[in-house]
Amino acid sequence: MSSKNSHPESTLSAEGSLPTKTAEGSLPDKGSIRAFAAQVTNSITGGLNCALTLMGDQLGLYRALSKSGPMNSQALAEATQLSERWVREWLYQQACIGQVSFDAAGDEFFLTQEATAVLADAEHPAWLGGMFQSVVALYDSVDKLPDCFRTGLGQSFDDKGEACACGIESMSRKFQADYLVPVLLPRIDGLVERLSAGAKVADVGCGSATSTIAMARAFPKSEFIGYDISIHALHRARDKINAADLHNVSLRNPIDHPLPEDASFDFITTFDVIHDSTHPVELIASIRNSLQETGLWLCADVQGLPSFAENMTDNPIATLAYSFSVMVCMSAGLSTPDGAGLGTLGFHEQKAKEMTRDAGFSHFTRVPFEDDLFNAFYDIRP
Ligand SMILES: C[S@@+](CC[C@H](N)C(=O)[O-])C[C@H]1O[C@@H](n2cnc3c(N)ncnc32)[C@H](O)[C@@H]1O
Repeated sequence: MSSKNSHPESTLSAEGSLPTKTAEGSLPDKGSIRAFAAQVTNSITGGLNCALTLMGDQLGLYRALSKSGPMNSQALAEATQLSERWVREWLYQQACIGQVSFDAAGDEFFLTQEATAVLADAEHPAWLGGMFQSVVALYDSVDKLPDCFRTGLGQSFDDKGEACACGIESMSRKFQADYLVPVLLPRIDGLVERLSAGAKVADVGCGSATSTIAMARAFPKSEFIGYDISIHALHRARDKINAADLHNVSLRNPIDHPLPEDASFDFITTFDVIHDSTHPVELIASIRNSLQETGLWLCADVQGLPSFAENMTDNPIATLAYSFSVMVCMSAGLSTPDGAGLGTLGFHEQKAKEMTRDAGFSHFTRVPFEDDLFNAFYDIRP
């Protein structure tokens, strides 16, 4: 992902073939066509690399490399009990793309410390393995995309199958399991004291309930209710809650059991939900009506900037975010005919301020937490 995007100077020919003219009208030279083709080829490689990185994770190849010193393909194949020929070709691909390092003198491969953190160590905050799983899970929905483009109607999370819920879970699991309770919640004035004493909490759009479980475990005197409209996510959440043997957590599908708009909740959380919602205005209104006057809404949403131009030049996650938006977030937000379709970057700070003010919230501050590459966190109160 590059921090700055650049427009190719050229335009497509009428047949949609390679560029024939620059914006100024002169013919591009072969070098510039080759440079542009190389840029596109990198994107193609990225598509293939998602599946191959997922293999490296699922088959334990990165973990085996990270545990040993430099090793050749035979040693790695033995360590992972895989076929040497396949492991060797995978290593060549990984070395060429720069994820695995190669020591030509010893004909051996190894992981740098950075690569170990990002690819091998699922417990490291910088681990990105879950994102590859999410991208590969989306390949199955490509057949449906032409219809979406034609009709305007998107796909809900459940339209994409259970793999989508799993992919989302693997992307957010690390933060929610290990950082939410010990690092983020203490940064919100008075919150830990309130949860420790016993509070009523809704985790709206809880997904697989990683956040709900982490909070319920830490605050046994509080009662937690996870709400989600995804059947797949709710199934996964139920299994996890049962496995965790927690008795202060329950789940609701808001389609059957909407948030009770009776000002009964002390604390409501949404982690990456509002921008995906088909009806964000109504959802924010129901959160407002469900909260006590002294209540608090912790809203996490993707860091965006107000305009496309600003995102394109100044938002380092813009390319990734717009890619996920067409494939997942905007699609989910348009999965009903009257859906808002805010898109991945559509609930940026300025928009969040406006929409929450319009819904009757009077307090809005950003919670200082810079460690998350993707999300901003807002403390929102009536
Ligand atoms: C990107 S996922 C985030 C899930 C989870 N919070 C996490 O961080 O892993 C968004 C979730 O919001 C749910 N969702 C969308 N609109 C909702 C609504 N109106 N009420 C409850 N859940 C909703 C989706 O089903 C999905 O599980």
